Amino acid sequence: MALFTKDSIERVREAVDMVELVSAKTDLRRAGSRWVGLCPFHDERTPSFSVNPEDKLYYCFGCQKGGDAIGFLQEVEGLDFQEAIETLAERYNVRLEREDEDPEADRKRRERDRLLGLLDRTARFYASYLETSGEAAKARAYLAERGFSEETLREFRVGYSPSAWDRVLTGAQRDGYSPQELLDAGLAQRNQQGSLYDRFRGRIMFPLADLRGRVLGFGARAMAEGRGPKYLNSSESRIYRKGRQLFGIDVARSHATKSGRIVVVEGYTDVLAMHQAGIRETVAIMGTALTEDQVVELAKVAKHVILALDADRAGQEAMLRAARLAKDRDLELGAVEMPEGADPAEVLQKGGPDAMNGLLERARGMIEFQVHRVLADAELDTPAGRDRALESARRLIADVPKSSALRQELVRTVADRLDLPPDLVIAQVPHRSEPARVARSPGQIALGPEEAFLASCLASGEVGMATLEGASADVFSSQLMRKAREHLVTSFHDPLAGLQDGDPELGRLVAGVVAKADTQQPASEASLRLSFLQLEQRRIDRELRRAGEAADRSMQDRLAAARQDVRREMDAVMGQMA
Ligand code: UTP
Ligand code: MN
Repeated sequence: MALFTKDSIERVREAVDMVELVSAKTDLRRAGSRWVGLCPFHDERTPSFSVNPEDKLYYCFGCQKGGDAIGFLQEVEGLDFQEAIETLAERYNVRLEREDEDPEADRKRRERDRLLGLLDRTARFYASYLETSGEAAKARAYLAERGFSEETLREFRVGYSPSAWDRVLTGAQRDGYSPQELLDAGLAQRNQQGSLYDRFRGRIMFPLADLRGRVLGFGARAMAEGRGPKYLNSSESRIYRKGRQLFGIDVARSHATKSGRIVVVEGYTDVLAMHQAGIRETVAIMGTALTEDQVVELAKVAKHVILALDADRAGQEAMLRAARLAKDRDLELGAVEMPEGADPAEVLQKGGPDAMNGLLERARGMIEFQVHRVLADAELDTPAGRDRALESARRLIADVPKSSALRQELVRTVADRLDLPPDLVIAQVPHRSEPARVARSPGQIALGPEEAFLASCLASGEVGMATLEGASADVFSSQLMRKAREHLVTSFHDPLAGLQDGDPELGRLVAGVVAKADTQQPASEASLRLSFLQLEQRRIDRELRRAGEAADRSMQDRLAAARQDVRREMDAVMGQMA
C-alpha cells in the first residue's frame, strides 16, 4: 500500500487535540501548562501521567512511556502506524494524501472501502432490527434470559436478521450497492435459478470486526434447533477469513493493552458474558483451532495470553498448537483448566465473576498445563499406562530451562503422581539445548522502574545523589539492583570508571543506566521523590504478598498502614509538582 505523504502526516500531528485524545482513555486535570492524570498504560492510584498540549506529547513518570499522538494511539489501541494515522485523520478531519499510488491499487482500495461501508450499514441494520422489530421479540427475550444486558448487546453490535428472503438485498440496493457487491461482502447468495437472496435470515447476528472496529463479516446463531447449522458464518472472501478473526478484539484491545493480558475463549456468547462480568480483555477464536494469524493479532495487543478453551479434545489440540506458535514470539502463554463440559459463559452463570477470576488466577504456563493434562489423562493402574505418561511428560519437561525451579517442580509432580523416584524422572528427561530466550526471573521483571529510578538520579546532579543516598536498600527487589545503587553512590560522578571487571552483570546494568541517564533532563527533587515512593510502594506490595502467603495478619495490618502513608505522601508530592 502506498505510504501517506510526509506533509499529510505532519498535518495530522498538527490537527490533533492531545488533551481531548488522551481524555478518552483517562481523566486529565490541568496542572500549570500541562495536564496530568492516571496512566492509561499501567495501573496506578496516583497520577504520574502528563500531557503537554503545545508540543502534543505525553509522558508517564511511572512506566516511562512517552511519545506523540500517533504513538499514543498505537500503544493504547494496539494499532500499527498506518492505522493510527488513518484513525486520527478521520477523527480530526485531515485529508490524507498518498505517495503516488498506482491506479490499480487505488481502485482496489476504493472497492474494498465500499464493501466495508456495506458491511457496516448492514450491521447497523441488524442491530436496530434486534432492538425494535416485532419479529425479533423472541430473540430479545432469549438473550435477556441468558443474562445479556442491552448495554452489552449494543457494545458488541449484536443484531437480528429478518426471516424474509431479501430485506438486506433490497435495502442495500436502494442505498446504491450493486448485487455483485452484496455477493462480495458475503451478504447475499444465489439459488439454483441464479437469483439472489439474503444469506442470513432469522438469526442472531454477531458482527466480526477487525482491531479498528471495521465489520468484516458475521457469525449468525440459529434460534431454533434443526434448521441448518447452529452458527452460520460469512463465507470466506477477500474481506473475511475466519481463521484471522478474533471476535471482540475491537472492544477488548484497549483493556488488553492496559492490563497486558488477553483472555481467549471459544465462542461469541462467552465473550459477551466475560465482558459483562468485567473481564474486558477477552476475545473468541470461534470454535476453531488457534491459527498463526490469530496469534499474530493477539501479540499486537498483549504479551500475556491466557487460553480458557473447552476442556474437551478439540480445545486441547488447539492449545498444543498455540504453544508451538507462541514459542517463537515473545508471548507468554498460559491456560486455564476449565471444568469438564463447561464454557466461560456457563461458569459465569453458575459461579459469577469470582468463579471465573479464580480460574484465571490459577492459570498455568503452557508446559505446566500440558504436563498436568498428561497426568490427569494417564492410566495410572497399568505400568504401560504410566510409562506412556512418563514418556509424554518428559518430552514436555525437556523444553523447560534446566536450572529452573519450574523444572524441579514438574519433575516432583510427575514423580509423585506416577509414583516413581524423582531421579528416574530426571534421568529420563532428554538433553535439549537451552532455548535462546530463557524465562525471565521475577527479579528481572521488576528491573524496569528500578533501573529508571537509578538513571533519573544519575541525571539530576546533587539532588539525585542525595536521593540515591537516602534510598533504603530494601526498595530494590534484587541483590543486583542493590549492588548497582551502592556502586552509583560511591562512584556517582564517574560510574563507568569505577567498575570492576569481575562483575560483568553489574557492568552491563550500570552501563545501561548511564546510557539512559545521558539522554535525560535533570529531574526535580519532587519528581525524584515520587519515583522513590513508587518503588517504596512496590516494596510494600511485595511484602504484603509474602505476609498474605504466611497469613500473618498483624504484619498485613502494619504494611497496609505503611502503604497508606506512602500514598498520602505521593499525593502531597504530586500537589507540589502541579
Ligand atoms: P459452541 O457450540 O460452544 O457455542 O461453539 P457457544 O458459543 O457456546 O454458543 P451458545 O452458548 O450455545 O449460544 C463455540 C463457537 O464455535 C463456533 C462459534 O464461534 C461458537 O461461538 N461455531 C460453533 C461455529 O462457527 N459453527 C458452529 O456450527 C458451531
Ligand atoms: Mn455456550
